[in-house]
Amino acid sequence: MIEPLELWSPRLCLRRLRPEDAAAICAYRALPEVARFQSWESFTLSDADRLIAEQSAVVPGTSGTWLQLAVVPVESATVVGDCGIHFREDDLEQVEIGITLAPTHQGRGLATEVLGSILEFVFGQLGKHRVTAVTDAENRPAADLLQRLGFRKEAHYVEHVWFKGAWCSEFLFALLSREWQLRIAEHCRPIQS
Ligand SMILES: CC(C)(COP(=O)(O)OP(=O)(O)OC[C@H]1O[C@@H](n2cnc3c(N)ncnc32)[C@H](O)[C@@H]1OP(=O)(O)O)[C@@H](O)C(=O)NCCC(=O)NCCS
Repeated sequence: MIEPLELWSPRLCLRRLRPEDAAAICAYRALPEVARFQSWESFTLSDADRLIAEQSAVVPGTSGTWLQLAVVPVESATVVGDCGIHFREDDLEQVEIGITLAPTHQGRGLATEVLGSILEFVFGQLGKHRVTAVTDAENRPAADLLQRLGFRKEAHYVEHVWFKGAWCSEFLFALLSREWQLRIAEHCRPIQS
């Protein structure tokens, strides 16, 4: 069992999806600029309802499932993004992550804050060994985000997957628990006099 399922950071709360989130999730996921590098072409209210219903059946930490969390600013109740943790079927010591943020909330470091919370959770609380993320090679904001958090680019798959009508190249990013712990320790180190 994973507790708690609310992750708090200075500006954000990450929590399980709720039925009343459907319209807000649909509003940003349906935008072409948000969908461009994602698995969906379009995203309707029914898609949001289905996602939320499927997520309600997910037991956090179950091998082979994605746990999707809503991104909610502390000062409002409206969902402005979502992030996912994939508990891999082949190796429970490793997880994959993903994130989507409404364009109205991009460019302010909120995605960095979201993934910081997720990394604290999976490394600090769950004791995972390694976190990975796959990005489209043309998705510069996603690559910048991961590298800002210390992820290493470990692979460049060249035109290896047929995606939305064309051959697509992807990057694999990874971060180890000990690398994250070192990064946190360095950021918290007191200034020497
Ligand atoms: C990937 C995605 C989440 C990145 O969002 P983002 O807004 O670029 O990332 P952040 O919220 O961390 O913001 C970073 C920007 O805010 C700035 N910033 C301001 N305050 C900041 C702070 N306190 N900390 C970090 N960055 C800050 C950074 O300089 C950076 O600016 P830049 O874009 O001009 O370089 C977003 O592009 C997205 O949702 N895309 C659509 C879905 C998608 O493709 N997801 C990826 C799937 S793998």
